[in-house]
Order: sequence, then structure tokens, then C-alpha cells
Amino acid sequence: MDELVAAARRVPSLFDLHGKTAIVTGATGGLGQGISLALAAAGANLALVDLAEERLRPLAESITTEFGVTSEGFAANVADEAEISAMTRRVAEKHGVIDILVNCAGVAVLGPALDMPIEEWRRGMRINLEGTFICCREAGRVMVSQGWGKIVNISSVRGSQGRSGYTSYAPSKAGVNLLTKSLACEWASHGVNVNAIAPIFIRTELNAAFLDEPDTRRDIIARIPIGRLGKVEDLFGAVLYLASPASDFVTGAVLYVDGGWTAA
Ligand SMILES: NC(=O)c1ccc[n+]([C@@H]2O[C@H](COP(=O)([O-])OP(=O)(O)OC[C@H]3O[C@@H](n4cnc5c(N)ncnc54)[C@H](O)[C@@H]3O)[C@@H](O)[C@H]2O)c1
Repeated sequence: MDELVAAARRVPSLFDLHGKTAIVTGATGGLGQGISLALAAAGANLALVDLAEERLRPLAESITTEFGVTSEGFAANVADEAEISAMTRRVAEKHGVIDILVNCAGVAVLGPALDMPIEEWRRGMRINLEGTFICCREAGRVMVSQGWGKIVNISSVRGSQGRSGYTSYAPSKAGVNLLTKSLACEWASHGVNVNAIAPIFIRTELNAAFLDEPDTRRDIIARIPIGRLGKVEDLFGAVLYLASPASDFVTGAVLYVDGGWTAA
């Protein structure tokens, strides 16, 4: 009982990330920005990774101003091994550790299979799946050697469901799900947890044109039991859970944040 009481007293600090170092890829995107803010609000120092330097700097500055954590932008392509290796090396040198990696960079390559050029199909796989693997491997080298770490891959409900026009996107996310589970098995004994979050539609640059079409939007909402699209804030709890000590015994999970879409 005493041990349990002592553990229960630690509950308020289960989601505390003060002093932790987190890398977020796709950090200037719709979901990446929100996830970065949530990690910073919980106390994590941030390395923000995205393609364009000019979008990273203002984000890094405003996060530091708002939350008092250190925040630095790294212009890098997640599918480029050399750039990601250099970025993780710099983060590890500066902070001494890499505690958290959130893989949020992604593209939605959509369109009919009959007209899909192979280069376009590969672009989706390269950024969503290969890029996630490269970032996991590079941060994983540091995490495995330090003996702890939390990786959160942003998948999609499409990782377990097909849809017309999704012959690149859906397989790339299915790959992310099984990459997550395989790395979870490989690194569990090294103290590294690897999990994924699978959101339903949240309006961002990735899908604004599609979701702003009134009939499409109405049909999608009608299929979501909670009766609305997702909001970026809906991901905060899931990300903090999987990035923090609250989830120490959880690995290889795909957590659906989808308003009940996959339950229906
Ligand atoms: N928005 C949704 O409804 C939704 C639903 C399920 C899953 N997702 C997933 O969430 C992730 C983020 O989506 P979003 O809605 O924020 O999209 P977004 O387009 O707003 O942001 C994606 C970000 O990734 C960056 N990026 C793209 N290619 C990159 C590369 N090669 N290297 C580094 N950065 C790169 C972009 O510059 C952009 O900032 C994606 O993986 C997406 O598949 C989104």
C-alpha cells in the first residue's frame, strides 16, 4: 500500500516534460505547430525540423517567448539521411540527450491509381514512410545508447483503412504503423518506447481544399460518431501521454484520435 501511495503521489508529474529535449518534424505544419506548443507547455526544450528556414525561425522564437523553453529550428528534409543525421548530432551535442521524437512531417499524395506516375507514388512513400524510418533510426541511435526515449509517429486512420485515391498515402501510413510496432519490439529492452497516433481529418494545409468542399465535409462529419472534425488540440493529450512517463509500459500501440471513426 505504501508503495502504491508513493506512486499515486507522483501522478501530477506523470506528464511533466521539464528538462526534456524533443525533436518535432513537420514542425511548421498544422499539426506539427500544435504538437510543438503542447510539448513546450509541458516544459520540453524543442528542436523544430521542417523544410523551410524562414517558417522555422518565427515559430521557434514565439515558442521560447510564450513558454520559456529553448527552441531551435533546423531546416532539413526528413527523407535525406545526411541532413537528418547532422540535425540529430547537433541536437544531441547541444542537449546531451534526445528524449522525445515526434515524426509529424508528411505529405498527402492522392489521386487515381490509373493515372499515378510512379515518381509521385514514391514521393508519398519516401517522405511519409522512409522519412519516418530515417528519423527514428537517427534519433534511435542516441536513445538506445542513452537507454531511454519516446518516439511518437503521426500515422492516420488511413493506415488501417483503404479509400479510393489513397493508393500511396494509405500504404505509407500502414507502413508507419508496422514500422512503429517493429521498432517497439526491437528497442523495448533498451528503454525506448515507440508508438503512433492515428488522427481523423483535422483541417490543415494538407487537406483544406478537400474539407472545404461542403458535400465532402458533411459526408465525413456524418461518419464520425462524435459528430465533428478533429481539432489540433484534440491531439495534445495523446501526444503528451505517449511522450511522457505516463506511458512507460505502452509500446507498439497505434492510438486512434478519431472521434470514434474506426469504431463505427
Ligand atoms: N491533418 C489531418 O487531417 C491529418 C490526419 C491524419 C494524419 N495526418 C498526418 O499528420 C502529419 C502532419 O499533417 P498536417 O495536417 O500538419 O500537414 P501540413 O501540410 O500542415 O504539415 C506538414 C508539414 O510537413 C513538412 N514536410 C513535408 N515534407 C517534408 C520533408 N520531406 N521534410 C521535412 N518536412 C516536411 C511540411 O513543410 C509541413 O510543414 C502528416 O504526416 C499527415 O499525414 C494529418
